[in-house]
Amino acid sequence: APSDPGLVERARAAKEKLGERVFVLGHHYQRDEVIEFADVTGDSFKLARDAAARPGAEYIVFCGVHFMAESADILTSARQKVVLPDLAAGCSMADMATAEQVAECWDVLTEAGVADVTVPVSYMNSSADIKAFTGRHGGTICTSSNARRALEWAFGEDDPRQSRRKVLFLPDQHLGRNTAVRELGMSLEDCVVYNPHKPDGGLTAQQLRDAKMILWRGHCSVHGRFSPDSVRDVRERIPDVNVLVHPECKHEVVSAADQVGSTEHIIKALEAAPSGSKWAVGTELNLVRRLAARHAPDKEVVFLDRTVCFCSTMNRIDLPHLVWALESLADGKVVNRIEVDAETEKFAKLALEQMLALP
Ligand code: 13P
Ligand code: SF4
Repeated sequence: APSDPGLVERARAAKEKLGERVFVLGHHYQRDEVIEFADVTGDSFKLARDAAARPGAEYIVFCGVHFMAESADILTSARQKVVLPDLAAGCSMADMATAEQVAECWDVLTEAGVADVTVPVSYMNSSADIKAFTGRHGGTICTSSNARRALEWAFGEDDPRQSRRKVLFLPDQHLGRNTAVRELGMSLEDCVVYNPHKPDGGLTAQQLRDAKMILWRGHCSVHGRFSPDSVRDVRERIPDVNVLVHPECKHEVVSAADQVGSTEHIIKALEAAPSGSKWAVGTELNLVRRLAARHAPDKEVVFLDRTVCFCSTMNRIDLPHLVWALESLADGKVVNRIEVDAETEKFAKLALEQMLALP
C-alpha cells in the first residue's frame, strides 16, 4: 500500500531539520516506506562498516533489528547516539543464544578438554553479550558475506581440515554448516549440533573431541520456511529458473539451489544477470518484492515459496515509528537509545574489529 502522504511529509521535514546531525541506516529487509528515508542501505556487514564511517553524525537511526543497533553503538564513538525506532524489533535467532547458555557450553567444552583448541565464531545476528563472549575467547564475528574468511582465519591453516583447532559457531547452525561444508570442503560428519536445552548440549565428550565444527542449535524462522520442496516446485513451475538463496536456509535447500549469498550478494547477482533470465529468490519478502519491481519486465524475479514470508521483527520498523523517532530527535529528545554497557562493549568490540580486519 502507498505510504500515508502526511507521514511522508513529516519524515521529510524532520530529516531536513536534523540535516547532517542524523544518519539513517536501512537493512535490505526493511519496508519500502522506510527504505525511502535511508541514507544508506546494506547487508549487516556493510551497515556495521558504514555506521562506523560516520563520526560526524550525532544520531544514528538504525532501521533494522536490535543486534544491528547494538553493533552500531559498539563501533561508533561514545558521543554518538544510536536509535532503534521500535524497541520490539528483535531477532528470534539472536534470542536463541543467551549469555548463560553460552557460558555453560564453554564449561562443557572445558570439561571435554577441547576449550583450549576451540575458537568462537559468532554470526552478527547475536546479542552484544555473545559478541563479548566471543571477544573474550579470542574469536571473531562474521556475517553471511564473510563467513568463509572468518572460518579460514579461525582454523588458521591453508587446509582447515588439517587444523587441530575447532570452531564453536554461534548461533546459526545453518550458516555454520553451509559455510563449512560448501566453502571449506568439510563433511557433514565434521559438524555436531550443540543443543542448549539438553544436558551437555546433547553431546558426548568423544563427539566434541571428534568434531571440527560445533554448531549452536539456532536458526532463522524466516529462512527456515524454505524447503527442498519449494525449490522443486519452482523449478517445475518456471523452466530455466535460477534459484538463489540466503545461507541462513537449511543445508538441503542450499544444496538444491544454484547460488547462495548474503542480501548484498543477491542484489548484485540480479543486477549482473542477463536480460530475460528468471530467478526464484529465497530470502525475506520485502527485499524480493523490491527486486521483482526493480527488474520487471527485463528479468523475472519471484519469491521462492508460495506463502508469504516477512521477517515480523524487521517489519516492526514502519513509517509511523520512524517519523516518531525523527521528530523526537528534531525536538531535542533522544528516544529508544541503544547503549551497550562499557564492559560488554570492550570485549564485543574486539570481536567486531577482528571481523573488520579479516583479510
Ligand atoms: P545479511 O544482510 O547480512 O545477508 O543478513 C541477513 C539477515 O538475516 C539479517 O538479519
Ligand atoms: Fe533474525 Fe531471521 Fe529476521 Fe534476520 S530475517 S532479523 S535472522 S529473524
